[in-house]
Formats: sequence, structure tokens, C-alpha cells
Amino acid sequence: MVHLPALPKRYHSASVWALYGLGLLPAGYGFYLGATGQLPGNPVKEFEHLLGLWALRFLVATLAITPIRDIFGINWLRYRRALGLLAFYYVLMHFLAYMLLDQVLNVAAILTDIGRRPFITIGMAALVMLIPLALTSNNWSIRRLGTRWNTLHRLAYVIAAAGALHFSMSVKVVGPEQMLYLGLVAVLLAWRPVRKPYLRRKRQAANAPVRRQPIEKAAG
Ligand code: HEM
Repeated sequence: MVHLPALPKRYHSASVWALYGLGLLPAGYGFYLGATGQLPGNPVKEFEHLLGLWALRFLVATLAITPIRDIFGINWLRYRRALGLLAFYYVLMHFLAYMLLDQVLNVAAILTDIGRRPFITIGMAALVMLIPLALTSNNWSIRRLGTRWNTLHRLAYVIAAAGALHFSMSVKVVGPEQMLYLGLVAVLLAWRPVRKPYLRRKRQAANAPVRRQPIEKAAG
């Protein structure tokens, strides 16, 4: 167990809004650098890459919330929705950058790319799967869908795997950065089946009666 100082409840909502603000900063800064000619090399590609990488980081962060709580006892559940939605916004911006800046809205070229280049097909599939998750990331949908909400939101694992695969397939040689994301997603996926037995054992250990040391009888 890791004991972090608890954030007073009155700051919870503000901290979530702060996360949205901070989370959107890389996109805003990247856009500013691009618009003022300060992005090196091919600015469109650089901007597209920046958005894609942040999308992947937010996907990984979203999936890390549950294991962090299970293993370290740190409850950041209140940030999970914001992280998931930030991932969606970044994927959407990454797609828009590709569609508007890279392909300059050449619909035929975009459709050919989606159909013919497997890494783009996988990326597109991930974006399509993210849409129902983003649309149902609200309290009303959670109430309405009940247990079906959990089933639907398990798609987040498939999306993260697709995102990491898409990243690895977008390069000629898979390097340490692609390996890192593939590894992180693999560990997060592997956590799912071991989670229940791990929590059961943890609960059993916590409930086990504490063995008392025999109290020495006072002599005499
Ligand atoms: C979950 C969804 C997605 C994630 C996480 C994601 C992430 C990424 C990442 C990390 C890169 C590599 C950036 C780099 O080289 O540093 C990338 C490249 C790329 N992505 Fe995505 N992406 C997603 C969906 C999409 C979609 C929907 C499209 C378009 C239909 C797309 C088009 C591209 C293209 C064209 C590149 C390569 C750019 C280039 O180097 O020429 N991606 N993506």
C-alpha cells in the first residue's frame, strides 16, 4: 500500500477540470508551434505524430487506473473518465490532422489509405470503437446501461492494443518506443485475468487472524 496525502473532497471536481486543461495543453502547444513555423522537419507529420502519441499515452493511463488502485491502493478512479475522453479527443484530432492537413480532404485517397494500408485500417477501427465509449462516458449512460456498460467499456483494452499495434506498424523498424507501448499494453491486458485471484488473496491476507506471540507468563 502506498499512502499519498488524500486530496480534500472539495477539490475533486476542480482537479478533474485541471486534468482536462493540462491534458489538452500538448495539443494546443503543438498547434501553436506548427502555426508559427516552429515545428522541425515536416510540420504536418510532426503535429500528427504528437497527437497520435498523446492519444496512446492517455489510453494507457486510462487502463492503468484500476491496477494502480488494486496494487498500490491509490484511488484515482475520479480521473478515469477524463483520461479516456482525452484519449478520444487526441485520436479524433490525430485523425482530423491526417484528413485535413495531410490528405487535404482528398476523400478518395483517405478511403484508399484506410482500405489498403493495414496500420491505417487498424487505427480507423480503433477510432470507430472509441466513439460508443466516448458517447457513453457519462452518469446517465452508466445508470441506463447497467452491467452492459462494463461489458461495452472492456473495448478500451482492444482499442489500446489496436493503438499500440498501429504505432508499431506505422514505422519501418520497431524501436524502443514502440516496444514500450506494446509492453505496457500487454502488461495491462495481462492484469485483467489475474486481477480477481490477486484481490481475493489480498482480501484473505487482510482478514487472516493475526498470530499472537505467546505471552510469557510472569515468573513467580
Ligand atoms: C486509437 C487510435 C490511434 C492511435 C492511438 C494512434 C497513434 C499513432 C501513433 C502513436 C503514431 C506514430 C507517431 C510517431 O511516429 O511518432 C501514428 C501514426 C499514424 N497514424 Fe495513428 N493513431 C490512431 C488512429 C489513427 C487513425 C484513425 C488514423 C487515420 C485514419 C491514423 C493515421 C495515422 C497515420 C497516417 C500515421 C503515420 C504518419 C506518418 O508517419 O506518415 N491513426 N498513430
